[in-house]
Amino acid sequence: MSNKQILYNKTPTPSIDPTLNTGTFRLNTIPIPQDVPPNNLLVRTHYLSLDPAMRQWLTAKRSYIAPVALNAIMRGQAIAQILKVGSTLSPKYKVGEWVVAGTGWQEYALVTEKEVEKVTLPPGGRPTDAMSVLGMTGLTAYFGMVEVGKPKEGDTVVVSGAAGATGSIAGQIAKIKGAKRVIGLAGSEEKCRFLVEELGFDAAVNYKDAQWKKKLKEVTPEYIDVFFDNTGGEILDACLARAARDSRFVICGAISQYNAAKPQGPTSFMQVIAQRVTIKGFIVFDFVKQYRSALQELASWLVEGKLKRKEHIVLGGLEGAPQGLVDLYAGANTGKMMVEVAPMSEALGPKSKL
Ligand SMILES: NC(=O)c1ccc[n+]([C@@H]2O[C@H](COP(=O)([O-])OP(=O)(O)OC[C@H]3O[C@@H](n4cnc5c(N)ncnc54)[C@H](OP(=O)(O)O)[C@@H]3O)[C@@H](O)[C@H]2O)c1
Repeated sequence: MSNKQILYNKTPTPSIDPTLNTGTFRLNTIPIPQDVPPNNLLVRTHYLSLDPAMRQWLTAKRSYIAPVALNAIMRGQAIAQILKVGSTLSPKYKVGEWVVAGTGWQEYALVTEKEVEKVTLPPGGRPTDAMSVLGMTGLTAYFGMVEVGKPKEGDTVVVSGAAGATGSIAGQIAKIKGAKRVIGLAGSEEKCRFLVEELGFDAAVNYKDAQWKKKLKEVTPEYIDVFFDNTGGEILDACLARAARDSRFVICGAISQYNAAKPQGPTSFMQVIAQRVTIKGFIVFDFVKQYRSALQELASWLVEGKLKRKEHIVLGGLEGAPQGLVDLYAGANTGKMMVEVAPMSEALGPKSKL
């Protein structure tokens, strides 16, 4: 049996070329490892996470994480199932258990204990939740909003990239925390309807509409107290122009700039002085000591129905990952985007053995 892998093939210039083998990535096929080292697990990838940061991982030299080396397996997290357990990890891990694992873009992977997190789910939870609302995505939204943005009752909170994985959770958390008005910015009318009708945002603005800045002004009559930014660029600039006195600008991401040859900074920057704005970037890893308590709170909101999640699953196996990643930057997704490498129907049952 073979193991397909996707390797980093060529530096993007500056956008990713999804054409397999001649573009940014190439396919490699090797046998599935048969011998499992004592401190390893052999896992099968079922759902692979697609993340905007992946573009940064290919080239950014001075970042929070080292770039992926050319010819290496593309980095990525996945919901995976344990197929074999190394002798020193037994009986702590069992065949058939679900884990979130740093598998990279491949169908099967040998991983150490440090590279896996066991999936524990609340009632009604599904394994993929551990990579979205109850995983890094939910934690990013939680810490960015609760610890950095600190919304208070009565605040106006604006979220960019609001219909995406992180933004959709961040906006709902602001509502749970008592914000008076939560406004989402997203790239289509359909996404805006989803935010208001399904997630309970107070208003949503389609930033691709010619009149969007005027609409943003209309829905922020008391200006913006907390801005949770996933996009940067023109959207950050427009929100800075609407900053309230002593507002907090949470810089979670800047997806509009990741593929740009020359990233753009805000021109409304002097509002930072006039309105005493605090601008703070963060990385979810900064809060690792608080993960457990945050996950408990996120899980309780999910179970109580206060928090809703949505997934966008790319079908077609591992080979769908490069095009899926390009589509993520183009806004194809509502909610968490992942690639189905192997469907749940092919998973081992709880008591199966290889
Ligand atoms: N700080 C951290 O620790 C941390 C951790 C995880 C993620 N992040 C950041 O959080 C942000 C969201 O990540 P995610 O995983 O939740 O992805 P996501 O929001 O699910 O997907 C990206 C979305 O960005 C929007 N977008 C793409 N190009 C855009 C542009 N030029 N202008 C405005 N919006 C654009 C698209 O939606 P539209 O249709 O609305 O354009 C797309 O659906 C990213 O910037 C990511 O880097 C930060």
